[in-house]
Amino acid sequence: MPRAGSVYRCQQCGFASPKPGTCPDCKRASGELVPLVEERAAPASAGRRATAAGTRPMPLKDVLMERGDRVLTGIAELDRVLGGGVVRGSLVLIGGDPGIGKSTLLLQTAHTLARVAPPVLYVSAEESAAQVKLRADRLGIAGDGLLLWAETDLSAVQVELDTLKPRALVVDSIQTVFMPELESAPGSVAQVRECGARLMTLAKGRGIATFLVGHVTKEGALAGPRVLEHLVDTVLYFEGEPHHAYRVLRAVKNRFGSTNEIGVFEMAAGGLVEVPNPSGFFLAERPADAPGSVIVSALEGTRPMLLELQALVARASFGTPRRTVLGADYNRVCLLLAVLEKRGGMPLANQDVFVNVAGGGRIIEPAADLGIVVAAASSYLERPVPGDVLVLGEVGLTGEVRAVSGVETRLRAAAQLGFRSAIVPRGNMEGALPLPVQAVTTVSDALAAVVA
Ligand code: TYD
Ligand code: MG
Repeated sequence: MPRAGSVYRCQQCGFASPKPGTCPDCKRASGELVPLVEERAAPASAGRRATAAGTRPMPLKDVLMERGDRVLTGIAELDRVLGGGVVRGSLVLIGGDPGIGKSTLLLQTAHTLARVAPPVLYVSAEESAAQVKLRADRLGIAGDGLLLWAETDLSAVQVELDTLKPRALVVDSIQTVFMPELESAPGSVAQVRECGARLMTLAKGRGIATFLVGHVTKEGALAGPRVLEHLVDTVLYFEGEPHHAYRVLRAVKNRFGSTNEIGVFEMAAGGLVEVPNPSGFFLAERPADAPGSVIVSALEGTRPMLLELQALVARASFGTPRRTVLGADYNRVCLLLAVLEKRGGMPLANQDVFVNVAGGGRIIEPAADLGIVVAAASSYLERPVPGDVLVLGEVGLTGEVRAVSGVETRLRAAAQLGFRSAIVPRGNMEGALPLPVQAVTTVSDALAAVVA
């Protein structure tokens, strides 16, 4: 019997009927008997209805701003990336390669947070309590207000949250905890999704600032379902070269701040040390007057970072010359070498070229183009670039040097570190700049200015 208020709809073609049965259109078209599926119409309502949350549309100007209840974690570089501290009830996912220092960062964070917002619960699902204690000893953390628990069952953790009432929670890692009511193994898509959703409810419902560690796959994406990244409020990546001490914390998603900021750390014997002045760190071992070394300025968000670009151009012994690039974009470097050969008149076809960013740094901005070109030319000609000159500019295929963004910020950082002049694109010559500059329009101009 058809029910009043119901519509029976074909799921293939959309045919709708007031009576149940099969779809006549589909039968006519393909002979197939497609059953019609009942759709209950909403009960007829008179006028306005209240929604679940009791809300109605309102003018944007009347929306009250909830002042995100933020707590400074005590680790300034992390606070900067989070957008000025961690928000109560937010869920932060930290991804990174194994051994990069995620557990170390979160143990240090849990320790400093426990001073301002105790108690903090650190759930270690990967390591035993003794292993974490060993790390804590190495970091010199005694930890009042910091509770440690080696547990993988998330339902047990949930129960304990009611008694402990922690203000912050660390779960290391989301791939090793599990919900017992699901049959699949920890780390499976179903488990990761369910655990993530459960932690989100707990964080939001109880106002607990929650940090999750997430593993990354070989391709560098967070393991587990993508849905985890959609679910959480903030996704941070902890990156670095395995054999370099320097680590960068980068936000790829942040509901409570910008994704432009980075935090810089150094992995030392006593744990992660903040690096408030990364440029000094990268330039510390810069050789004096060595050919092939050029200082460029990368702008990460609003933060300028001076990096040393090194190039080594050496005669190829046989066959196709090699191009090896570390810390910069390979294709971009090949393009720039072609420009240097054609527009700078430098025969590189029989030369091996190696390009490296010193100290394990990384620069993918076009603003470093001119630096790469100058470094290669300097190495080829065996003529050093003066050590107190900064080189900036994007290079086009015709050898023209194009303007870059944030020139003033970049130059001010260089001035603070004692740089005395800079090569900048002519397009950037507007207003007063914080450093004496030489304007260039082409690659040849730049080469004439620094390596002639
Ligand atoms: P860890 O935090 O365990 O990495 P993850 O959780 O991302 O897998 O850190 C691993 C590396 O850090 C380890 O190889 C040793 C090094 N380390 C230090 O150099 N100094 C330290 O004080 C600590 C605790 C670790
Ligand atoms: Mg770990």
